[in-house]
Amino acid sequence: YSVTDLGYADHGGGPAHHAGVSVPVDALVPPAGAAPDVSVVLTAEQGPFTLPSGRRVEGYSVNGSSPGPVIEAEQGQLVEVRLVNESVGDGVTLHWHGVDVPGGMDGVAGVTQNAVAVGEEFTYRFYADRAGTYWYHSHQVAHEQVRGGLFGALVVAPAAEARPVEVDALAVVHLFPGGRTVNGLDEDTAVAAAPGDRVRVRVVNTDAGPMQTWVEGAPFRLAAVDGTDLAGPEEVEDVSVTVTAGGRADLEFTVPEGGARVGLGGADLLFGDAPDEPGPVPAAILDPLHYGTAPPAPALSAEDADRVFEYAIGRRPGFLDGRPGLWWTVNGGLYPDVPMYTVAEGDLVVMRIANGSGEVHPMHLHGHHALVLSRDGVAATGSPWWIDSLNVADDEEYEIAFTADNPGIWMDHCHNLSHVLEGLSAHLMYE
Ligand code: C2O
Ligand code: CU
Repeated sequence: YSVTDLGYADHGGGPAHHAGVSVPVDALVPPAGAAPDVSVVLTAEQGPFTLPSGRRVEGYSVNGSSPGPVIEAEQGQLVEVRLVNESVGDGVTLHWHGVDVPGGMDGVAGVTQNAVAVGEEFTYRFYADRAGTYWYHSHQVAHEQVRGGLFGALVVAPAAEARPVEVDALAVVHLFPGGRTVNGLDEDTAVAAAPGDRVRVRVVNTDAGPMQTWVEGAPFRLAAVDGTDLAGPEEVEDVSVTVTAGGRADLEFTVPEGGARVGLGGADLLFGDAPDEPGPVPAAILDPLHYGTAPPAPALSAEDADRVFEYAIGRRPGFLDGRPGLWWTVNGGLYPDVPMYTVAEGDLVVMRIANGSGEVHPMHLHGHHALVLSRDGVAATGSPWWIDSLNVADDEEYEIAFTADNPGIWMDHCHNLSHVLEGLSAHLMYE
């Protein structure tokens, strides 16, 4: 394909503009004539709206509220979403966070499409080829539009015969003005379930920072991270799971006689006869690096790498778009003087993400799932841990690997979205 202009100035944060990128994405999207299995219209609006809790907020809504409708598909189905911009002044797009869609469907304003202006629309079509928990959100002036409510969950269920649970619940966690919400609610929610029921709770963290979740009253398993099931997850108790900003964690447990509470840091989910008052937050944190069953041979190994990239995050004073300030750096450079990670299709890519910036960064790679190989030089010993969003704390260094199998131009950025505006973004590009 030919790239004439990457639209650097508007890396997902700027105003609507014409990117001038020409990628023949038609070849990658479903045939135009194919009838969708799931068809949804999402209307984006800017202005005051009412959360499911009844709280009135000023922000951005999808079909009149937030979170937007849950898009539910079965594995393998063709999903078609018509995005209509009713009144979002800066324009709007939709990014399918965690779904490795074809490049032209990625919804990055200024890179894969132009932002959809007021009165216009854009149709997304992709195959939901992996079962799991995902979400969608605007990728235009994203630090404002996502924080303000322009998002929703996307759940891809396995084929009916492969469904392991009786109760499938969702917890979309978001900080709106006035406090933390779960599915737009301020208070604990009772989910219909009986003792003995097997439950999966899909926690989606749409906030800018990490959160903890856990189950009180029953042992549980961390069944999936970022849409991918873990292998051999053992039962744990009195331990919490970290959900990266932008990331997802699916917890599974059996409802006991005395009921269970899924802790979300307020506005918890209650199953069965759970006590009204929450207990303390568990002190221990589950480490996915050493959790579950390791495969006989790793799916990807650093020794086979075709490319090894450094993604070193720092911070220093300088000028960004002519603005003086204290900005994030990638490999010492200030945006746009940051790496263009260039790959060929089929490459095995190893990336070392080192954070020396003084703050945590939830790093998100578009279009690919990466396998965590090590943290601070300690190799992973548990289940394959595939991520699309990785919580990289200050002073931590992760080594991840992925196969370059999805041609296009892909953002690799911090999901604390105001950090993108402050320079914490680079791109992956296919030769
Ligand atoms: Cu969920 Cu580039 O974003
Ligand atoms: Cu960050």
